[in-house]
Amino acid sequence: MGLREVITYPHPILRKKSAVVEAINEDLKRLVEDMAETMYASHGIGLAAIQIGIPERVIVVNVGEGLVVLVNPVIDEAHGETRMEEGCLCLPGVMVEVTRHETITVSGLNEAGQELTLHAEGLLARALQHEIDHLDGTLIVDKVSRLKRELLTSALRKEAKEHAGVKEK
Ligand code: CO
Repeated sequence: MGLREVITYPHPILRKKSAVVEAINEDLKRLVEDMAETMYASHGIGLAAIQIGIPERVIVVNVGEGLVVLVNPVIDEAHGETRMEEGCLCLPGVMVEVTRHETITVSGLNEAGQELTLHAEGLLARALQHEIDHLDGTLIVDKVSRLKRELLTSALRKEAKEHAGVKEK
């Protein structure tokens, strides 16, 4: 398949809780390849399968230290707190301050079904937490006040309509 379309907020599928992956097979490998390709093409540093409409617990991250693939990721340990502005491929042009854990230990499988445990800090820890949030339908807009979220949502709806209008011409 290759490049996939990234779904944008407020599409309801982004709120879906992704299912645990039961089978490590060729379909999963292809999904991971497509996700990495889509992430790179979108200049993102992470992508969850749900962002391309697949409700399965698969994430890819690359913060410039190589590609990390995690299937059924679980955060085993988390320490510290850090605040930083974050964006999301589902929310083009939106940046919000998000509090995250400073360091995490995350475990899961790679696309070959091998178990792995990762100790992450800095941007990698942040990106992993962001992508794992997607698997439970949590978005960065949930990390801001209700008023700010409403303003963001109406601005994005308006933008989506304008884009649709441009396409029709
Ligand atoms: Co995101």
